[in-house]
Amino acid sequence: MHLTGLGYPQEKLPLDRVLDVGCGSGQNTRCLAPHFRSVLATDISPAQIKEATARNTFANIEYRVAAAEEIPMPAESVQLVTACTCCHYFDMPRFFAEADRVLAPAGILGIYSVRTPKVYRNGMFSTELNHVLMQAFEAIGNDWGRVWKDVEDRYGDPRFRLPYPGEVRDESHDQEQTLTLDGLLGFIGSLGSFQKMMARCGAERGEALLQLTRERFQSVLSNGKPEVDTSDIGITLRHPYFLLMARKPVSR
Ligand SMILES: C[S@@+](CC[C@H](N)C(=O)[O-])C[C@H]1O[C@@H](n2cnc3c(N)ncnc32)[C@H](O)[C@@H]1O
Repeated sequence: MHLTGLGYPQEKLPLDRVLDVGCGSGQNTRCLAPHFRSVLATDISPAQIKEATARNTFANIEYRVAAAEEIPMPAESVQLVTACTCCHYFDMPRFFAEADRVLAPAGILGIYSVRTPKVYRNGMFSTELNHVLMQAFEAIGNDWGRVWKDVEDRYGDPRFRLPYPGEVRDESHDQEQTLTLDGLLGFIGSLGSFQKMMARCGAERGEALLQLTRERFQSVLSNGKPEVDTSDIGITLRHPYFLLMARKPVSR
C-alpha cells in the first residue's frame, strides 16, 4: 500500500492521524508510524496491547485496549483506518459503522489480511511440504477452519464489502521469510489459532502436534532417510496478502 499522499487533495496534506484496529503486538502498526503525525492502535486483548506497548519504539504510536466495534475516538478524526488480519473476528456491520464515524471525509478504509502461507524449497513450490503444513493447520482445528475459510476466500463474503463506492482490491503483495525447521515450527506455535487450540485441548496436545509435524517435515526434507541432518535446511514461507480499500465520500 502506498501511503504517501493517498490521493488526498493537496490542501489536506500532510497526513495526520491513522487508526489501526485489531493491532495485535503491533507488527503492522509500526509500518504506519513514519507516514503519519500520530497513530492510534487498538486491540480487544489487553495481553496484546501490553506486548505492543513493551515493544514500541515510536513516539507517535499510542496503543490502547478497545474493541473494533467501539472505537475510542471522536467523529471525523482520522484520515485512514486500517485492519490487518483481524476483520474475520469482527462484527463487521458494527465495525464499519464505527470506521465511518471516525473517518474524516475523503478518508480511506483499508482492510487487509495475510493468507495461508505456501512452502517453497530451493525456489520451488513443494507439494509435499505444503501437504505437511496443511495437515498441521487442519489438526489445529475449529478456530483455524473458520478463519481459513474467510482468508482463503480473500474476504469474498458479502459481509466484508466496504461501505463506500469504488472498492479497490490489491493482491500484488507477498512477504517471504526463510526459516530452519525449528523456525517453521516456532511460526506454527505462535499462531493465535494454535494458542487457542492449546487453551482448549491442553499443552500436551500442542506439543504432540508440533512433534508430529517436525517428524513429517524431517521425513520429506531427508527423502525418508532418518540419518540426514535437516536442522540447517532453509525452508521459505511465502505469505500472500490481499487488500480491500475505498474512500469515504466527501459528501453524501
Ligand atoms: C491475527 S491477529 C492480527 C494482529 C495484527 N493486526 C497483525 O497483523 O499482526 C488478530 C487480532 O485481532 C484482535 N481482535 C479480535 N477480535 C477483535 C475485536 N472485536 N476488536 C479488536 N480486536 C480484535 C485479536 O486480539 C488479535 O490481536
